[in-house]
Amino acid sequence: MANLEFWPADGSARRLVPLSPVTTLLVAIMKSGAYIRHDCGGRALCGTCRVEIDSAPQGGGRAAGPSSGAAASPGGGAAAGLGGGAAAGPSLSSSLGLGPMRAAERERLQILGIALDGRIRLACQTYSSRDLGARGCLDKEDR
Ligand code: FES
Repeated sequence: MANLEFWPADGSARRLVPLSPVTTLLVAIMKSGAYIRHDCGGRALCGTCRVEIDSAPQGGGRAAGPSSGAAASPGGGAAAGLGGGAAAGPSLSSSLGLGPMRAAERERLQILGIALDGRIRLACQTYSSRDLGARGCLDKEDR
């Protein structure tokens, strides 16, 4: 079974989250008990569930998340470097075994000013059956 190495945006401890190809990252993270913001309940309307994807989960060897505080902020954060060395570009999602971005996710990310390069995904719209890492971008009070 694949796992997601997840760093909650609230700074709580990293979680190893079991993944299923038929369950979104959001649902998997919530089932694990980790905190992830999801203001619209998973309908691609708010963007608060966004996560920064890391192609190289470390199996628990790192103290910090994929970018150590480079939370994706509209208009710039999405271009922040990843700790795992993932290649940027439109093929990032497919190379990681993530499902393609559907129209609703693309639209929401564009509204937020986030690049559609696959580094930032909406957890409520993303599926994966491969190991990967991700960091929650927004804590409870973040905008
Ligand atoms: S929970 Fe609102 S966009 Fe994912």
